[in-house]
Amino acid sequence: MGGVEPNSPQDCFQTMIKSMLRSLSLVAAFVACFAGAPAHAADIAAGKAKAELCVGCHGENGISQMENIPSLAAQPDLFIQWQLVFFRAGTRKNEQMQPVVEQLTNEDIRNLGAYYASLAPPKPPVDDNSDMSKKGAQAAVGRRCASCHTDSYAGTKAVARVAGQRQEYLLKALHDYKSGVRSGGGMAAMADVAYPLSEEEIEALAHYLAHL
Ligand code: HEC
Ligand code: HEC
Repeated sequence: MGGVEPNSPQDCFQTMIKSMLRSLSLVAAFVACFAGAPAHAADIAAGKAKAELCVGCHGENGISQMENIPSLAAQPDLFIQWQLVFFRAGTRKNEQMQPVVEQLTNEDIRNLGAYYASLAPPKPPVDDNSDMSKKGAQAAVGRRCASCHTDSYAGTKAVARVAGQRQEYLLKALHDYKSGVRSGGGMAAMADVAYPLSEEEIEALAHYLAHL
């Protein structure tokens, strides 16, 4: 890779694009990215200051009160960073996020990742439909969701926290993967996972995960 040592999602993204252009293995670049140590220590206080730009939509302390806007609190650092890089590169498209990410430097992205990862996760609402949760739990076992999202569904590295996320946003995300509107990073794990899900499973999964 031309002697470049990839070590942050921002650097990695460029490395991946370059490696794609050179027809080198994208998967190898992706793996190298996650093996690398962070380039610079992230600054949580600077991330908090920058998050003033985000609070109007994503809520105080990263807990969203708005429909179709996800909570960011306690998302894994790398998941936040990758999604911001995807929005900025235009590989993930959203009209509301687009003008925001245009203003972010690589350093902002690093700091925002560290800041949101440091926050307490959202408290799940009281479960108003335990039958639905049971169905969702069964579907999650059958589809092996925890194999990537971890047993607590708190996520790890580039894999999102889904526990306690807003239910209608989980529903939207699963529909977006299934329809191909959202393709996800690198190995397109979620597109492959969501494609065979039935509408009934998607609804049960979103209900179950939102109440964890
Ligand atoms: C005008 C409203 C708005 C503002 C301001 C905004 N966002 Fe967003 N953000 C959204 C919406 C809407 C989505 C969901 C996009 C979708 O449905 O794919 C989103 C998604 C995201 C995601 C992906 C999360 C996930 O779970 O998939 C991240 C990360 C994110 N925003 C970070 C930020 C950061 C950091 C800022 C401030 C620098 C910010 N956003 C400012 C509206 C906003
Ligand atoms: C092979 C690993 C893998 C498996 C299995 C998997 N996921 Fe994911 N999931 C991911 C990754 C990686 C992401 C982030 C993708 C991206 O960049 O958009 C993700 C993202 C998501 C998101 C979007 C979260 C957000 O905030 O934007 C939802 C919802 C989700 N997964 C639900 C599920 C459910 C439900 C299952 C089981 C049916 C499942 N996942 C199985 C790897 C996986």
